Amino acid sequence: MCGIVGYIGRQQAAPILLDGLSKLEYRGYDSAGVAVYDGDRIVVEKCKGRLETLNHKLNGGRTVKGTLGIGHTRWATHGAPSDVNSHPHMTENGRIAIVHNGIIENYLKIKEFLVNKGYKFVSDTDTEVIAHLAEYYYDGSILDTIVKVIDKLEGSYALGIICEDNPDEFFAVRKDSPLIIGLSEDGNFAASDIPAVLPYTRKIYLLEDDEIVRVTRDGVTVYNTDKETVSKEVFEVNWDVGAAEKGGHEHFMFKEILEQPKAIKDTINPRVKDGRVVLDDITLTKADIEGIDKIYIVACGSAYHVGVVGKYIIEKLANISVEVDLASEFRYRAPIVTDKTLVILISQSGETADTIAALREGKRRGARILSVVNVVGSSIARESDNVIYTWAGPEIAVATTKAYSTQLSVMYLLAAYLGQEKGLLTEAEVSGVIGEMSKLPALIQTVIDSQENIQYFASQHFNAKDVFFLGRGVDYAVSLEGSLKLKEISYIHSEAYAAGELKHGTISLIEDGTLVVALATQGPLFEKMLSNIKEVKARGAVVLALTQSANKEIEQVADAVLYLPDCNDLIAPSLAVIPLQLFAYYISVMRGCDVDKPRNLAKSVTVE
Ligand code: G6P
Repeated sequence: MCGIVGYIGRQQAAPILLDGLSKLEYRGYDSAGVAVYDGDRIVVEKCKGRLETLNHKLNGGRTVKGTLGIGHTRWATHGAPSDVNSHPHMTENGRIAIVHNGIIENYLKIKEFLVNKGYKFVSDTDTEVIAHLAEYYYDGSILDTIVKVIDKLEGSYALGIICEDNPDEFFAVRKDSPLIIGLSEDGNFAASDIPAVLPYTRKIYLLEDDEIVRVTRDGVTVYNTDKETVSKEVFEVNWDVGAAEKGGHEHFMFKEILEQPKAIKDTINPRVKDGRVVLDDITLTKADIEGIDKIYIVACGSAYHVGVVGKYIIEKLANISVEVDLASEFRYRAPIVTDKTLVILISQSGETADTIAALREGKRRGARILSVVNVVGSSIARESDNVIYTWAGPEIAVATTKAYSTQLSVMYLLAAYLGQEKGLLTEAEVSGVIGEMSKLPALIQTVIDSQENIQYFASQHFNAKDVFFLGRGVDYAVSLEGSLKLKEISYIHSEAYAAGELKHGTISLIEDGTLVVALATQGPLFEKMLSNIKEVKARGAVVLALTQSANKEIEQVADAVLYLPDCNDLIAPSLAVIPLQLFAYYISVMRGCDVDKPRNLAKSVTVE
């Protein structure tokens, strides 16, 4: 959601800003703009639509002179996508330009105050109040102005600010919205995420809330709200530019699907040693673990779906009761939390606004907080008691694949670890689980290698109007993800149902030709699934089944079968999700959809 790039250096700014914004497209947006100081005044260029439109208008940025500027991609919250609502926003006198990611919750109150002072508003955005407030407080010092402005703001913000009176610097500040600083010999940057600066530098400052940054050509100074300087440590990014590029593939999503065997290996291998799970990342003692009265797994979107699988696995291996909650629900209800409760947050970005709020709510209620996060140094990682990083590398496609898979691997690791530390699992059982997990990269590769079969099924069904995904137990949990993947990127209506629940309503929607994807990877539930498949077949459904290759009898009831390599039930979810990702991917491609940037969606949902 909204992307910010700021640059000051020795190169022309606009091409660098546009290039940086292109690396943030994955976040989701509907308009784009830049503000550049051209040596004389601030020039603002912005428009509704894709970045290509702005790029074209500015001839790749070459038509805008100047070496200092800020850029923005906007994901509309307050006010429809339009040229005028696009950022940057200017003060009335045109001397200060601002870009903003986040939501100013008290903007109506501030607007009323400013309107009474005579300020005129031209947009419907909450951001415009920041620009006018800056003009109201500006007394020649931008630092002083920012301190006064942010003191009045409630909500979340990452801001980039340039001022005509200060042609040799720009400012940035954040609270509850992501922002990093990039440091290089040739100039310095601010950005919503690392890929925007990666072609220029790997040296990064990760910012804390309310740190205000002065960025000049030759250096960066960080202040707190008392205007005292704060010393920062440089964080060295260890992935290369290629990790955030398509590497010859047509779409990031496909590239990321292919990267899953490696991502899983990188996530699991460092955490298993001599037949035991070693989680140095967490500081729970054996007594702490034995004392856990309940686990809440809290997350949004696909990460929530990982939690649903996680519940089954943790309850099975560690015998701890697990509740799975959507972060947007958890934050506003009254969950029963004690100091023996463990709250596990799962998040790829580590910046999802609802998940951050749920974390704080859990903390406030006295729970211990463990997070499973992909982005190092992100807000959720920093605010948690313990973090288990998923080593998936940068994920760019909006529809998550490798982050989901690595999060799932962490669920296995964690469940086995809790069971091991509680003494519930024997040494042989723990090493058995580890043995199964270690097979995953090779088995997933086998599934990926059968992509042509999946492509064929997609070609048979890409015109479907409705698709139902059915499963029982962890298969139901994986169905949720398969269904979400399909609707996210292909815009086909789809629902996931616990197969036994279907007859309580949804079966009325099954008619001649309705596509049903039935997952049947769980031995004890296999016969039950065969019955459920027969039920939908009897009502005209076309059934595509997914099961291990030993289960040939499924061919008697399903119209088509996608076979997974034979594997233990426990790790089957990690295999079953792969064909569902590929199925959604191929259907999206065949329907001509924007696979990596589906309409209305954002990768990093930094507003509530
Ligand atoms: C968005 C993304 C999903 C993601 C969810 C949670 O909706 O499109 O792919 O699962 O946010 O994001 P997080 O970064 O917290 O995992």
